[in-house]
Amino acid sequence: MKKITKAVFPVAGMGTRFLPATKASPKEMLPIVDKPLIQYAVEEALAAGITEMIFITGRTKRSIEDHFDKAYELETELEARGKKQLLELVRNTVPKNVNCIYIRQAEALGLGHAVLCASAVINDDEAFAVILADDLLDNRGGPSVMQQMADVYDYHRCSVLGTMNVPREETSQYGIVSTEGLAGKVQRVTGIVEKPKPEEAPTTQAVVGRYILTPRIFDHIRALKPGAGGELQLTDAIAALMKQEAVLSYEFDGVRYDCGSKLGYLKATVEFGLRHPETGGEFDAYLAHRFGGQAVAKKK
Ligand code: UTP
Repeated sequence: MKKITKAVFPVAGMGTRFLPATKASPKEMLPIVDKPLIQYAVEEALAAGITEMIFITGRTKRSIEDHFDKAYELETELEARGKKQLLELVRNTVPKNVNCIYIRQAEALGLGHAVLCASAVINDDEAFAVILADDLLDNRGGPSVMQQMADVYDYHRCSVLGTMNVPREETSQYGIVSTEGLAGKVQRVTGIVEKPKPEEAPTTQAVVGRYILTPRIFDHIRALKPGAGGELQLTDAIAALMKQEAVLSYEFDGVRYDCGSKLGYLKATVEFGLRHPETGGEFDAYLAHRFGGQAVAKKK
């Protein structure tokens, strides 16, 4: 297996939890302060040394392609107005050595199906990353979560699932893994169940939107029987893969914001707004004034 150079970004979901904002534009283009979610995800992949970005797109996703493309009119306009800093920002959305590939998922038939759409551009001897942009993972300047996972992959050379510990009462919102052995944060996965009730959950280790998968996963997705609504679930394919080869879980360093939900999105906006060089100071003062007490930054 070669080093990981490809990341798959499934962005073809319906985003129903964010309607009406997502009626005509994708949830992955929702900004946290001034950058769309999908750009944070691409930057996380870049930090892990990934240079091929594969977007699985659907209806209403054109703006993602435009975002990572050259914007001739905008660049000419900014140049004419002498806005050098903004021009640089627009030109450097992705570095020049990065290749963006767009594959259309004609019908939203589930995350498993979205990942399968990438099979045509993944070779038999290369593992690849899967990044769900609506899970915004923040390690505050430390190695990005995908970078941490790529290190685990480089050492163990098998599939790795990014996990975090969740409160037991929330297990029914996640895929939950059972694990055994190995050291500390890296464990061998022995089982994976989708959305178990708190009393039935084997552990509280939840899979969030980061995966490194070997290409054998495609055979297991193809072999799945479609579930409700014809959907193919990635979790079911991982459960089958696990019987054939080792799959690891890695409890990453960093904080996760569920930006596919309104509440998670608002939390991320506050945190990133407080940290942003343009807004941080005044936003902090505003929050202190609005809610009383000390400014948030001072309390930390
Ligand atoms: P979600 O479960 O968050 O679904 O998908 P969703 O449709 O995007 O959002 P809600 O629940 O209706 O609000 C998890 C990820 O998988 C992608 C989504 O874009 C999201 O990044 N996905 C899901 C696909 O690309 N295709 C699918 O068929 C389903």
